[in-house]
Amino acid sequence: MTDPGERLRTSLAADQAVGAEFDSPIAAEAMRATRVLHAADQDPFPRPGRIRVITVANQKGGVGKTTSTVNLGVALAMYGLRTLVIDLDPQGNTSTALGVEHTVGTPSIYDALVSDATLAEVTHPTTASPNLHCVPATIDLAGAEIELVSVVAREHRLRRSIEGYLDELPPEERPHYVLIDCPPSLGLLTLNALVAGDEVLIPIQCEYYALEGLGQLLSNIDLVRAHLNPGISVSTILLTMYDGRTKLADQVADEVRNHFGELVLTAVIPRNVRVSEAPGYGQSVLTYDPGSRGSTSYVEAARELAARGAQLAPASPPPPPPAQPRTAAQPAVRPAVRPVPPPPPPPPAVAALVLGESVAGPAAGGRHAP
Ligand SMILES: Nc1ncnc2c1ncn2[C@@H]1O[C@H](COP(=O)(O)OP(=O)(O)OP(=O)(O)O)[C@@H](O)[C@H]1O
Ligand SMILES: [Mg+2]
Repeated sequence: MTDPGERLRTSLAADQAVGAEFDSPIAAEAMRATRVLHAADQDPFPRPGRIRVITVANQKGGVGKTTSTVNLGVALAMYGLRTLVIDLDPQGNTSTALGVEHTVGTPSIYDALVSDATLAEVTHPTTASPNLHCVPATIDLAGAEIELVSVVAREHRLRRSIEGYLDELPPEERPHYVLIDCPPSLGLLTLNALVAGDEVLIPIQCEYYALEGLGQLLSNIDLVRAHLNPGISVSTILLTMYDGRTKLADQVADEVRNHFGELVLTAVIPRNVRVSEAPGYGQSVLTYDPGSRGSTSYVEAARELAARGAQLAPASPPPPPPAQPRTAAQPAVRPAVRPVPPPPPPPPAVAALVLGESVAGPAAGGRHAP
């Protein structure tokens, strides 16, 4: 039997060694990675009160729309929530980041918007999680804004597609979350996403011009609410690319919080090189480097998003079916999961007003079908 003093010293040394091991940056990162990858079993996110269709929009380019859609989508899915990500940007960055094929000819969102493919026919599984599916965008989508101009109910194409998809699925397979990644413009694609969504998530980059142009986005959302989708509202603001070394980042974050109050998530996404490297490997940062600060902050943001979703009231029952027979182009009954009452038909000028000059000519010219 060793002497008690010796045993105490040995035990203290062992404790210190363990402490030192977990104090090292690598060990701490490994622990964080383990939490991200395995916590889903012990710590799943709560289910939302109803299916949430969230449009991720900001007409400013490069603010983190795609990065946020991808990483929030992966986080929600890894933590147990069925999630569908729709890539509505012809650049196809969301599809790339999720490792989903999006070469010309791949069934994509273009086929659902312009041809009459169902969303189920263009939905692909992802390797990130069995809970995560993606509707990719091919470069064909670049022409869709022009092609849609003459299509019946062109602003409602995506909404109808999503509703048809939800309607067809048995309840236990319906996604809890549908995230739509918008292009950096306020054209017909973004308009479709605003008509399709119930909520808008606006990523705001913590830099000097962050709030510029935001007024235009907000007034477009107001117009859409007034004329095309009474259920839409801005529910979430996410601060992205926060650089803690600069005062400017804090000033912008404060300004955004003062302006938008509780809409702003407490979690802030830091500027982190692993976040920008991940898409190059067809991955989210959660799978590429789960222990990185980029990954853990997206998990925190998704956790907050899910916690807010859990507070939502369940969808009210669908309205009684109207007398007219249902057509494929115009579902008569909205599924119970989408409680917003059908919007009044827009006056022809509204789409042109929302879209600005991009397609205003043809819309104002009366080619917009009822
Ligand atoms: N937290 C971050 N840290 C470091 N780089 C980031 C972060 N978030 C995004 N990026 C990088 O910034 C660039 C723009 O991001 P992203 O593509 O998500 O923006 P976007 O708003 O979708 O752009 P676009 O308007 O072109 O669609 C990308 O190269 C991305 O990898
Ligand atoms: Mg993008």
